[in-house]
This record gives sequence, structure tokens and C-alpha cells, in this order.
Amino acid sequence: MWWRSAVIYQVYVRSFADGNGDGTGDLAGVRAHLGYLRDLGVDAIWFTPWYPSPLADGGYDVQDYRSIDPRFGTLAEAEALIQEALALGIRTIVDVVPNHVSDRHPWFQAALAAGPGSPERERFWFHPGKGADGGEIPTHWVSSFQGETWTRTTNPDGTPGEWYLHMFTPEQPDLNWNHPDVRREHEDILRFWFDRGVAGVRIDSAALLIKDADLPEVGEKTGPGQHPTEDRDELHDVYRGWRAVADSYPGTRVLVGEVWVPDIERFTAYLRPDEMHTAFNFDFLTRPWSADAFRTSIAATLAAHAPVGAPSTWVLSNHDVTRPVTRYGREDSAFAFLKKRFGVPTDPDLGLRRARAAALLVAALPGSLYIYQGDELGLPEVEDLPLELIQDPMHHRSGGIDPGRDGCRIPLPWAGSEPPFGFSPAGTRTWLPQPDAWGDLTVAAQEGDPASTLNLYRAALRLRRALPELGDGPLGWIDGLGADAVAFRRGPSFACVVNAGDAPLLLPEHEEVLLASSPLPEVDAPGGVMLPGNTTAWLRTKTDAAASADSAAAATRPTPSEG
Ligand code: GLC
Repeated sequence: MWWRSAVIYQVYVRSFADGNGDGTGDLAGVRAHLGYLRDLGVDAIWFTPWYPSPLADGGYDVQDYRSIDPRFGTLAEAEALIQEALALGIRTIVDVVPNHVSDRHPWFQAALAAGPGSPERERFWFHPGKGADGGEIPTHWVSSFQGETWTRTTNPDGTPGEWYLHMFTPEQPDLNWNHPDVRREHEDILRFWFDRGVAGVRIDSAALLIKDADLPEVGEKTGPGQHPTEDRDELHDVYRGWRAVADSYPGTRVLVGEVWVPDIERFTAYLRPDEMHTAFNFDFLTRPWSADAFRTSIAATLAAHAPVGAPSTWVLSNHDVTRPVTRYGREDSAFAFLKKRFGVPTDPDLGLRRARAAALLVAALPGSLYIYQGDELGLPEVEDLPLELIQDPMHHRSGGIDPGRDGCRIPLPWAGSEPPFGFSPAGTRTWLPQPDAWGDLTVAAQEGDPASTLNLYRAALRLRRALPELGDGPLGWIDGLGADAVAFRRGPSFACVVNAGDAPLLLPEHEEVLLASSPLPEVDAPGGVMLPGNTTAWLRTKTDAAASADSAAAATRPTPSEG
């Protein structure tokens, strides 16, 4: 049951490390740094798409699932990487993007060539336009990337043709999941990677695959399961099929869903025992820096997961969202895609302090933990990229209003005092430029500093591994520490206390401070040890009898056999 408590590190291949010196990250770069990930203490790596792709959406426009993009390496290198990571105790999770493919995918090319009414077009959503000349868009569905969701094709004779659906960019045509080829093909892709030893798949945009074939507009009062393109009931059948494929392999091969479904009951329906194993918990990620918001989110998440028997996941960031250091330093620290703008002020010191506190909070919560590359270095969002270098379609499709997601996808700084900071050989221009000021944030600089964010993460993951009460299991709230506290115990003698306010608060009685996200005062206050504002502490407490009973009960709960 490794996945119930796993620490999973997200590698955005293009920006992790460049092994061949062309300014773009690649598999050789990852292989050269596997020791770094072992020392950090991760159990698995999730690789964002590494397949051949025109990179119209950073690789989420896949041209061929059974190969590796030549810019990143070869299939043989991926196979070697999977085995080398396993030898270090690190499992591999690959990304599968079932909602759409690249417009260069052979299926889409064949569909365009075959023309209206052909069986090749049935694997996608081709449709005549409305109006006498078919010039009106079939629906006004809204894209997650803004702009229209249909693009009109041109017939081979040059006349205007049918439209095709794309919930993201026009380079990402949506597949028709009512078509048996689409289902069969994706189950085969799972087998292809499971056969190569991968331990799981991350399922991109997992709640979008099925569309209402009647193409209705989105009504004002769309109830649960009634939206034409989101969270439709038929999806569960798709994932039951995938689960059967995963379960046909030895060991546990996990399905991790990217499920942006706000209704928590509908969200956990994807985690029923014959569907996905886990899904990213985005509710927590969208919450502002606030004890009340955190407690509410944690309690609701745990309560909703319990009935389906799935562990929760904890996610502070990923390649799509604003880095926590920048987000938590803002006046409005809640995250929402539609809010992203240039020039929103942030306090980087406060943001870093809170991001460190949040890291210890999520690492102590029940379930599995995701770490996005660079968060362990406390990297901020880069918000001053020259406009002409921005590649993310979210920026371009917003008419330049949304800065896009490139600011969290900057190549990692490994060593040295100037770009490319060891990401690429000296003198190389990286695919996105790094800030000149990142010299203090490099891995090499942080390794030597006991107070660095990297060393905080390492210490936290070491303790998490050593303490059996962390990871999956019960949580008991500790009340009475004030409105700014998020405090809970795990097992009989471990407590996590977050002070989300600015004023210090008195820590509960304890025997030892195991770890703190910021230094604690050297001199104790009259009543005991104070926890400064925006700080988390992990405590070893006296054994709590009630909590011992809880964990004994948890220990006797039947668990499926280990995979
Ligand atoms: C997911 C990915 C994101 C991508 C989108 C379309 O949300 O995380 O990066 O742009 O799907 O595939």
C-alpha cells in the first residue's frame, strides 16, 4: 500500500535538468540527478508528458504515446531511467492525457484527410456549424484556456468545412470517448507503460472526457452530473475499465486523477474501490492563508474520503498554479485560474515563511503528498519574464491579460552564481530564462545551509519516513489554541501545530520540538514555548491514551494486501 502514504515528486522534464546542453531539460538530466531525489526522500516521481509533441501546450498535446520526445531522449533511456529509479527505491508515474491528442496525432491527421462523414472523424468531435452556411459555432462551451472551443476546418477543395471540438487549444482536439477505438487505445497505452515497470499513471483533465452528444449549451442551473462537458456519470465506467487493467498487473499500479470537481462528494465518487486510487486534492490548494480555511478544507476532505476508503492527497502546487512562495505573500492568497494577472504585489519574505510552514503542515496530514519540483528550494513564481518569451497558451489565449504558467516552469537552479546555474552547461541559453538573483536558491547553496528550505524538506521527509504515525492513518484535532491555530495529533505522541496568524501563540505541552519551519525563540515565555506567527512546529508529546486507542483501532483495520 505504498501509495497511501507516498511522497511523490513532480518532475516537469523540460525544466528539471539539461543533460545534453541544448537548454531544455531531458531524461539524461533526470538520470544524473536521481541521487538528489533519493536524498530528498521521495517515494515516486511523476513525470509530466515526455512523449513526442509539438509542445503547443507544454507536452499536453501528445503525438505518440509509445515513444519519447527526441528533445527529451529515447524510449531506451526512459526504460533505463525507470529501472535506475527503482534501484534507488523510487517508483515512476507517467502522465496520460485522455481528453485530447495533438492535432499532429496520426488519428487527427487521418480524420482531416478523410473528410466529413468518414469513420476517421468519429474518433473526434467533428460537427457541422449552425446557420445556413454552417458558419456559426456549434456550441458556446467555454475553454479552460479562454476563447472558443471549436475550430472550423477547411475541406480539401478549399471550401469551409466542419468544426471540431477542443476544450483547450485548437492544437488539442478532443477525443470522442463514446468510440470503442478511443477506449481500447488508452487501455493499450496503460499496458504499454505498465509493461515497462511504471507504478502508476496520472490522468490529465480526468473529469472532462465524456461530452453530451446532443451538444446542449451550459444551462444556468446545471445540476451535478448535468454539465455537458464536465464530471458526467458515464466517466466512472471508463475508469472502472482502467482499474481492471491496473489490477491485472502484479503489485499495485495506481491511477491518480487530475479531477477539478468542486463538489467533494462527486469528487470522491472517482475514488470508489473499483475506480482511481487517489486524486489530487485541489480544494486545499485554492484556499487562502487562513487557519479557518485550512481547518475547514482538511476536515471536509478527510470526511469525504473516509466513506470510499481512499487516502487524501495534499498538493501545494504544480506546473499549472502560482508557486506558494509568491501566492502566500499576497494580500489575497487564494488561488483561482481566472484571477491571474500581472503586477499583483507580493511580500516574498512572508510568502517564503508561510510556504515553509505550509510544507510542514501538508507533510503531517494523513495520506500521500505531492511536491512540485523547485518548491523544495522555495522558488518563487517568476513574474517578470519578457513577454516575447512567454510560451504558455493560457497567456496568449487570454489576450495577454493572464501571465500564464511559465513563471512556475523556470529551469531549476542547481549550482553556481549566474544563469544557467548548473541546469545546462555554462553559457547555454535555457528555454526560459532564470532570474539572475537565484544564486542563493541553488541546490548547492542550500545544501550547505542548515536553515535552508531544502534542508527543511529533507528533514521533514526523513521524519515522515521514520515516524509510522505519519502518512496514511487517523488524525485528531487539538482544540483550544486559538483562532489562528491549525493543530492536530497523529498517533499517541506526535502533534503538528501551525500558527497562521502574525502574533505568537503558546505551544501545547510537549517533550521535544522535532522540527519547526522558522526558528523558535531561544528563551521560553513564562508559560512555555511560543510558536511565532506563520510558523509550523512538529512536536513529540507525552503519550495520549485516547490517541493510542485511535491508532490501535486503525492498526487493526483490515487493509488490502501490500503491492
Ligand atoms: C491539465 C494539465 C495542464 C494542461 C491541461 C490540458 O490541466 O495539468 O498543464 O494544460 O491539462 O491538457
